[in-house]
Amino acid sequence: MACASLSNAAATAAVSGPAVSSAARVSAREGGAKAARALAMSCRALGESALKRLPNSAARSRLATSDFFTPLSSAALRSAASAASALPSSKRTSHHAAAAVTPVASANGSGSSGGGLAIDLRGKRAFVAGVADDQGFGWAISKALAEAGAEIILGTWVPALSIFETSMKRGKFDESRRLENGNMLEFAKVYPMDAVYDKPEDVPEEVRTNKRYAAADGGFTVQQVADRVKEDFGSIDILVHSLANGPEVQKSLLETSRSGYLAAVSASTYSFISMLQRFGPIMNRGGSALTLTYIASERAIPGYGGGMSSAKAALESDTKVLSFEAGRKWGIRVNTISAGPLRSRAARAIGFIDDMINYSTANAPLQRELDAVEVGSTAAFLASPLAAAITGTLIYVDNGLHAMGVAVDSPCVARVEEPDKAPATV
Ligand SMILES: NC(=O)c1ccc[n+]([C@@H]2O[C@H](COP(=O)([O-])OP(=O)(O)OC[C@H]3O[C@@H](n4cnc5c(N)ncnc54)[C@H](O)[C@@H]3O)[C@@H](O)[C@H]2O)c1
Repeated sequence: MACASLSNAAATAAVSGPAVSSAARVSAREGGAKAARALAMSCRALGESALKRLPNSAARSRLATSDFFTPLSSAALRSAASAASALPSSKRTSHHAAAAVTPVASANGSGSSGGGLAIDLRGKRAFVAGVADDQGFGWAISKALAEAGAEIILGTWVPALSIFETSMKRGKFDESRRLENGNMLEFAKVYPMDAVYDKPEDVPEEVRTNKRYAAADGGFTVQQVADRVKEDFGSIDILVHSLANGPEVQKSLLETSRSGYLAAVSASTYSFISMLQRFGPIMNRGGSALTLTYIASERAIPGYGGGMSSAKAALESDTKVLSFEAGRKWGIRVNTISAGPLRSRAARAIGFIDDMINYSTANAPLQRELDAVEVGSTAAFLASPLAAAITGTLIYVDNGLHAMGVAVDSPCVARVEEPDKAPATV
């Protein structure tokens, strides 16, 4: 298949394109031409934006001239419209159009809602901890929140800060910074932060005097960063914890030392409690706190060691308890997203991320690679008033992999037919 060798974004669009196109036809039959047109248009926009993100022009023109776009932009619309016109008008509704969520705009600029059910975060401010490049979930979440109009402040790990800022200045992230409205993703401020230290007294001498930490612009403990955000901005509405660290992640749990285990839980789990303790008081009512987890908390994933599986299990449990406590105390919501595998910097360091991506593509209900953007849009939804009643919840954004009980690509289950390949029964 031509798209197999293309970038992730293009492959995503290529896989989902025909599905949306046929959804447009179904929608037209059930719900009217307007709904169908909205779906087909959003599919086309998805394809075009994926095209723009392709790394080289040859790949771009190959995909643009493939049979992917033509049926979407013309045939799908035509058949959707004709199916709809065949319906009595009483049966046409706008129900399906509402399902195509329209980004509101603006961000880092102004814009207007395209109508429909939009995620609108204009006037909201987010503090996102765990962004040090444009490859991970923290970046994708920041970008989605900005697409919906929120102002973004970052807390970046001290050892990674200098290279992050230099890369930003040199334009290394410019392509990823571009928003749908043409503006660039801007960060109102980037604070140095180390989430394993709550307050200045906790910082050991060797860290305080370390070159990078000594050069940090201002206090980097969680309390100091929260104080600085309060002083500079007053309040926030959205708190995102997209960070994890396990020094012994490559060791099996059975070989993990006490200090390695506790370090994983300190950096990856307690850090969230610490952030909520200190940012909670400056969060506006109705605000949303979010963290990221992984299925290794509930199922054995060999290779995800060093106590990281335990850290994620604790994080998921804490999400429930904190949703109660923070809900009652500050009127804010606390949720977690269990994400599928992504080739982020942290995941590459673990050492087997490509295997996990291949495994997911082979075995998940949806045979496609996860795009960080999909976690970003779920985060934006959770942060928005659309999710006003959702708290204490874990949402899987993993192409459905969590739902599987067996690996369908295993030779042991070769006799199991996939649904669309099952022989017809008489
Ligand atoms: N990549 C995956 O496959 C995957 C899957 C499910 C969940 N997650 C989770 O997503 C979250 C984000 O990770 P990612 O994979 O996008 O990688 P990433 O490398 O983009 O993000 C991890 C961030 O944590 C920061 N960090 C590490 N120690 C820190 C500390 N002490 N204080 C402050 N910041 C610190 C790093 O600088 C980095 O920016 C993590 O919680 C991770 O466990 C990742």
